[in-house]
Amino acid sequence: MSLSFAYDLLMYILARIYEFIWCRDKPIPLKCLVGKTAIVTGGNAGIGLATATVLASRGCRVILADCQNGESSRDQIIASTDNKNIVYKHLDLSSLQSVRNFAANICKTEEKIDILINNAGIGLTKRLVSVDGLNYLMQVNIFGAFLLTHLLLEPMKKAKQAKVIFVSSVLANFHSLRAEKLNITDFEMDDEHQILLYSNSKACCILAAQEFGKKLEKYGITANSIDPVGVRTQIFKPLGDYNNWLMKSFLMVGLQLAAQDVLDVANCFLNVAIRNEPATNGKNYVLSHIGRKPTILMDRKLCQDLWSKMEDLVELKPEEKIVS
Ligand SMILES: NC(=O)c1ccc[n+]([C@@H]2O[C@H](COP(=O)([O-])OP(=O)(O)OC[C@H]3O[C@@H](n4cnc5c(N)ncnc54)[C@H](OP(=O)(O)O)[C@@H]3O)[C@@H](O)[C@H]2O)c1
Repeated sequence: MSLSFAYDLLMYILARIYEFIWCRDKPIPLKCLVGKTAIVTGGNAGIGLATATVLASRGCRVILADCQNGESSRDQIIASTDNKNIVYKHLDLSSLQSVRNFAANICKTEEKIDILINNAGIGLTKRLVSVDGLNYLMQVNIFGAFLLTHLLLEPMKKAKQAKVIFVSSVLANFHSLRAEKLNITDFEMDDEHQILLYSNSKACCILAAQEFGKKLEKYGITANSIDPVGVRTQIFKPLGDYNNWLMKSFLMVGLQLAAQDVLDVANCFLNVAIRNEPATNGKNYVLSHIGRKPTILMDRKLCQDLWSKMEDLVELKPEEKIVS
C-alpha cells in the first residue's frame, strides 16, 4: 500500500466521521425548475433515473441520454411526475462518434442547457477496448463525458449559470493515476485491473470537475463532482463474477453499511445542481457536503498533463479546446 494511498484513505475516513458527527443535511432550495433544461446521462436506470425524476418533479425539461430503454424510463417519469417535458435521446458514451452525434443534435434542437449531469457509468467489465481503440471502462466513465462537456459548451453558455456534475466515488482514493497510463489497453483484464480502472476513472471525474470548474468560471458555468457513497443498483451486478474475495467482501460490506436511498441521493444531486453560491465550484461533494479529493489532484502539473492527454484521446479539434 503506497503512503499517499494510505493517507488518502485515512483522511477520507476521518472526513466521513466528521460529517457524520457535525454536518446536518443541507436544506434543498425550494426552486422551481420550469424553463430549465437538464441532460442526465445514464438516465434510464439507478441514480440517473432517480435524478431525472427529481428534476422532472420540479418542472424541469429533462433529456435522458442513454444507450437503450430510454422510452420506457421516459414514460415512467412522465407517469410519476405529470411533467410531459421529458425526452429520450440516444447516447453511447463508448463511442466518440455517438457523443458527437448526440451533442450536434442538442446544439441544433435546444436553445440552452442549464444542467448537465454526467452520471452514466459502468462498474466492473471484462471489455477492454472500445470501437475507438480506447480503454472501454475509461471511455464510458470519463472520456465520453469529458468530450460531451466540451461539445455542449455553447448551449451551456446560453444558460448563463449552467451547472455541470460528474459522479465520483470513494474508490477514487484507490487510484493509480499517471498521465502515461491513462489509456492502457495492452494487458490481461483481471479482477485487480477492473477495480483499478474504475478507481482511476472516478479520480478523473473529480479532476474533470475541478478543471472544468476553473476553465468555465468565466462563462458563469460551475462544475462539481458528487460521491453518492453507496446505492444498491445494477452497477454491482458484475461483482458476482468477481474472484478477489477480499475486495468483494470489502465492497459488499461497505455497501451494506453505507447504502443510501436512491431518491435521497438524487436530492443531493439536485441540491448541488441548483445552488448558486460561487463557492460551489470545482468541489468534490460527498452527498450534500463538500468532501476531500485525492491528494494527487493538488499537483497542478499532473492535472494539466492528464487534461492534455484526455484532449488528445478524445480527438478534440483545436477550436473545441477550452482556452484558460
Ligand atoms: N451505486 C453506487 O453505489 C455508486 C457509488 C459511487 C458512484 N456511483 C456512480 O454513479 C453513477 C450511476 O451509477 P448507478 O449506480 O446508478 O448504476 P446503474 O444503475 O448501472 O446505471 C448506470 C447507467 O449508465 C448507463 N450506461 C452504461 N453504459 C453506458 C454507455 N456506454 N453510454 C450511455 N449510458 C451508459 C446505463 O445504461 P444501461 O442501463 O442501458 O446499461 C445506466 O442507465 C455511475 O457513474 C457510478 O460509477 C455509483
